[in-house]
Amino acid sequence: MLIFYSANNSKSLFPIWNQWCLCYVAVVCLLFSPVRTDDACPSSCICARESGTVTCRDGDETEVPGNIPEWTSTMILKGRNISTLQRGAFMTNDTELEMMTLSLSYNGIQAIEPYAFLGLPRLHLLDLSHNRLESISARAFHGLTELRSLYLNYSIMPQATAQLISALSTQSLRNLHRLELTGNRLTSIPLIRLDIYNLHALVLINNSIETIGRENVTNLYQQRRLRVYLSLNPFRCNCDLEAFYYWLKNSSQCPDAGRLLCSEPEAKRGSPVDKLRGEDVDCMNENLEAVSYVFLGIVLALIGVVFLMVLYLNRGGIKRWLNNIREACRDQMEVYHYRYEQDSDPRLANVAV
Ligand SMILES: *[C@@H]1O[C@H](CO)[C@@H](O)[C@H](O)[C@H]1NC(C)=O
Ligand SMILES: *[C@@H]1O[C@H](CO)[C@@H](O)[C@H](O)[C@H]1NC(C)=O
Ligand SMILES: *[C@@H]1O[C@H](CO)[C@@H](O)[C@H](O)[C@H]1NC(C)=O
Ligand SMILES: *[C@@H]1O[C@H](CO)[C@@H](O)[C@H](O)[C@H]1NC(C)=O
Ligand SMILES: *[C@@H]1O[C@H](CO)[C@@H](O)[C@H](O)[C@H]1NC(C)=O
Ligand SMILES: *[C@@H]1O[C@H](CO)[C@@H](O)[C@H](O)[C@H]1NC(C)=O
Repeated sequence: MLIFYSANNSKSLFPIWNQWCLCYVAVVCLLFSPVRTDDACPSSCICARESGTVTCRDGDETEVPGNIPEWTSTMILKGRNISTLQRGAFMTNDTELEMMTLSLSYNGIQAIEPYAFLGLPRLHLLDLSHNRLESISARAFHGLTELRSLYLNYSIMPQATAQLISALSTQSLRNLHRLELTGNRLTSIPLIRLDIYNLHALVLINNSIETIGRENVTNLYQQRRLRVYLSLNPFRCNCDLEAFYYWLKNSSQCPDAGRLLCSEPEAKRGSPVDKLRGEDVDCMNENLEAVSYVFLGIVLALIGVVFLMVLYLNRGGIKRWLNNIREACRDQMEVYHYRYEQDSDPRLANVAV
């Protein structure tokens, strides 16, 4: 407007069309000036420019807000109903954002499409906890080369476990320091290898891990700086746990080692894994025990067979013995019968009289 008036005041030096042209330029300047786009806050969000934080809570929107300001360093999106994180969901007009922290917990997210986090090359922390992930693309985390912390607590549905494993095996996550997977009913470590990351903490609390095999233990030993949290898992304390048991005692890589409990076998339910004795997880010992039971069984069977043999071989003697008993019985019966007849006759006679 200022430009328009100044043009008007310059004593008709400019023809009318020129004034309109200046007016147009001014309007365009206002529309696309950096100040204007920067001040825009996505609808139904709260923007705090000083702290670089955009917060969007509880709403009916089913998509990630568009027009995320360029200055955003932290974005918190919570309590929405976002069923799918689409490809490039955080790209505004094909420009990259400098965002460092992205929290997407409690949004009911069910699917993550490939390249969903495109355009966030500086992202350090991604929180996807408390969602309901049923489908995770193998390229879901593509491009997150600076990511250090990934939180996926209480978020993975059982049918998505295999997809999670392939999504996590991307080379993009090479700077990952901390991976939290609490409460996902996982039955094993959902990582094919450990040497592609820079992991310092792997949190697997409250899952369904019953045992951790020798192969995994070897890989854990190789990652000296890695700490693995494993409490609230139902460990099966038999000899398959031997390598893990010694890793637990030896490596001090499990900070919550004292809180790991056996859930099987029945006899050891509730006892701490690190308080087991070496013999409890010793396969030699277990095999010996099994062998001794088999041996006892064989011995009992042999005794039974011998007994039957004795009976069989002695069948003549036994027959004679049985006959003797029968004879004895018969003699006894006859005596009794005779006495009965002797006693009863006179009584019968009396009654008749
Ligand atoms: C979430 O959105 C979907 C459609 O995208 C709808 O079917 C569903 O009912 C919504 N759920 C809630 C809790 O609002
Ligand atoms: C979108 O980007 C194009 C070029 O990439 C630019 O000309 C245009 O002004 C941008 N629009 C907005 C709203 O930032
Ligand atoms: C789960 O994720 C949150 C981030 O939302 C984190 O603060 C917390 O420490 C994680 N672990 C557990 C056990 O909840
Ligand atoms: C463990 O996770 C289940 C869901 O998987 C949850 O219901 C339970 O409360 C959790 N237990 C603890 C002690 O956090
Ligand atoms: C753990 O062991 C399973 C099979 O036992 C294997 O597929 C997986 O790659 C191993 N993971 C690690 C990190 O050692
Ligand atoms: C460490 O583990 C090995 C078996 O891998 C075992 O022989 C050794 O005794 C353990 N050391 C300690 C201090 O427990």
